[in-house]
Amino acid sequence: MKKLNSLILNITVKFLGFIYSGRNLQRFWVLEVIARSPYFAFLSVLHFKESLGIKNKKTMILMKEHFYQAINETEHLKEMEKRGGDRFWIDRFFARHLVLVYYWIMVFYYFLSPANAYDVNIKIEEHAFETYSKYLKDNPNDQKIKEIAQDELNHVKELNEALSMLTTI
Ligand SMILES: [Fe+2]
Ligand SMILES: [Fe+2]
Repeated sequence: MKKLNSLILNITVKFLGFIYSGRNLQRFWVLEVIARSPYFAFLSVLHFKESLGIKNKKTMILMKEHFYQAINETEHLKEMEKRGGDRFWIDRFFARHLVLVYYWIMVFYYFLSPANAYDVNIKIEEHAFETYSKYLKDNPNDQKIKEIAQDELNHVKELNEALSMLTTI
């Protein structure tokens, strides 16, 4: 399953790379729209399960963590909007349709297999970090992007911890 996750993500990343080559700002904005939706999906599923009485010691920890990650990703999104990443109709149209599909995929994926859903999201966060790192090579003084890249790396670490929590508690 993890290989399938990688395959689908690699195809998507290549496709996004192709259509957003030379349009960094728009690429970042689309990426941030997509990147925060798994956290909303995780929260929805955790709330839903908790409401049905399906909860344990890790539920509250994970809900808190994913809430802060969703807020953090929203801050990234706001920064990209401040820079004009959502200026064009076609990018908004593309991102909003993609996120609609992606959110529901992640809801079902996290409901059925949290470990696999975390695996997908770890790969997405790694990709976000690589994307910002590439940009920073040409723009080393962009402090805000440096901070955002670090946030993406922190999310990878947090998601790996969440993943190991699934099997240890
Ligand atoms: Fe982000
Ligand atoms: Fe992220």
